[in-house]
Amino acid sequence: MNDMATRDLATNPYDAVAYPGHAFSQTHPAHLATIAHIHGMTPAPTATMRVLELGCGSGGNLIPMALQCPGAQLVGIDLSGRAIARAKAEAAELGLSNVSFEQRDIMAVTTGLGQFDYIIVHGVYSWVPQPVRERILALFGELLAPQGIAYVSYNALPGCRLRDLARDVMLFETREIDDPLEKVRVARAAIKRFAEATDAETFYGVALRERAKQIEDIPDNVLYHDDLNPGARAFALHEVLAAAEPHGLQFLSETSFPNNFGGARGPAQQVLNAIPISEPLRQEQALDLLIGRCFRQTLLCRADVALHRGLAGFSFAPYHLAANVQEEEGKVDEKRPGAASFLFADGVRLAVDLPAAKAALRALGRTWPGNIRYDELVALALQEAGGGSDREREIERLNEALTAIYRAGLIEIGLEPHRLATRISERPVASLLARRQALASHEVTDLRHRAVALDGVVVRKFVSLLDGTRTPAMLLDALNAFLSEAHKSGRGGPALPKEATAAEVDMHLRDVARLALLAG
Ligand SMILES: C[S@@+](CC[C@H](N)C(=O)[O-])C[C@H]1O[C@@H](n2cnc3c(N)ncnc32)[C@H](O)[C@@H]1O
Repeated sequence: MNDMATRDLATNPYDAVAYPGHAFSQTHPAHLATIAHIHGMTPAPTATMRVLELGCGSGGNLIPMALQCPGAQLVGIDLSGRAIARAKAEAAELGLSNVSFEQRDIMAVTTGLGQFDYIIVHGVYSWVPQPVRERILALFGELLAPQGIAYVSYNALPGCRLRDLARDVMLFETREIDDPLEKVRVARAAIKRFAEATDAETFYGVALRERAKQIEDIPDNVLYHDDLNPGARAFALHEVLAAAEPHGLQFLSETSFPNNFGGARGPAQQVLNAIPISEPLRQEQALDLLIGRCFRQTLLCRADVALHRGLAGFSFAPYHLAANVQEEEGKVDEKRPGAASFLFADGVRLAVDLPAAKAALRALGRTWPGNIRYDELVALALQEAGGGSDREREIERLNEALTAIYRAGLIEIGLEPHRLATRISERPVASLLARRQALASHEVTDLRHRAVALDGVVVRKFVSLLDGTRTPAMLLDALNAFLSEAHKSGRGGPALPKEATAAEVDMHLRDVARLALLAG
């Protein structure tokens, strides 16, 4: 796992050890706008928005947004000259003129940048000194537009207290080591040695062993910055909100809305239900204390915005719906003979009786990864279900079913249609960014603003070929030319197939569409 490129440590640890940059869908303004809208705000449309990201790293989050929204203006600030140089080079190669990157200390950012509809600070707040944290919140107060939304993520309490048990071991054992690679090596060895030597019958021993196991899966560069930064601190939600309040800010929501209480089950849910809905912050804080939350992604807005909290009176009407769901053909529940079984991407299964709800889920499954306007979905569902004589009652029952599924976090809603293609065109086009990334890495950014892994060099090559000039037959020829060349030059290896077939090209096209990589 030695993928850490090290350099002179003198200025910024992020110059010395690069941090992996990704697109984070939970920070995307389209997502933030939807949550804000549900809460009664009038957020800026993404087509013309202004976005600021503080601690933007090498632009992995802003660049895909800039490509998707050519009329938007995006600004990225980071202290690391190395990360900013990479971001600028990437933006220039992609021909982007709507995103700018600047090497600057957050402490030196001023109102000169203008107002922003969205300000994103991901993976920074817990890892910078107190004056920088204070400045981040002050900048939200100074730079947010009246209906603007700020996103800030941080390590959360009380969950991180358990992680800190392992950090204490690693920080102590590496206290005199400066070299990043050596620090990580010694830290890994130390936590393993100490955890294995603890008494597994004790609370402490169990906690340390559990965390030691998790640490094995953390990449070196992430472990170095996230856990081995001696200044890193976790915060309770109420601490962050108390620090934000003097800057004229209030809590809007968590980005996981509406599934905020998804982690709380059974008795924990009952504790939460006992807290009145008029006390949302007490509910939120109680949730963390119940589930031992380690990480928060909190949205803030101006304190003078009147917010409508909770889902009472909620209507799907203004939104587009999406769900990664498939009907499980032939799976019958004997206790509910009329019910159909639906499997959602995260493994959740639902048995659905209502004919209109079944039809709606089938339509969502066919549309994925695209989304569909609510009124279109209702029309499709009622048409397919045949419908009874009382159309209004049918719609009411469909809404009840869809709302329950939405509350469980299984349906996504959005104010805007997804900007991607779900049908395979005559000459398919994958996103420009994904085509470039596929040539260099197995990880690409999809058009839903997520990092997705491409399985193997053939699929990577295939994605890179989807530039809109090739029909499926031409894609087959190009793929076979690539395979033949790879074998001739000895780069093939036994795992690489000798030849691709037309059926495989069709399969790759369906996979690429389902992975949300097709732009046209
Ligand atoms: C953990 S990385 C997160 C990068 C990116 N937001 C992400 O989540 O992948 C923290 C970033 O904050 C930047 N940073 C730290 N202190 C800063 C400061 N005072 N001003 C500007 N950027 C800073 C670092 O250079 C680094 O790129």
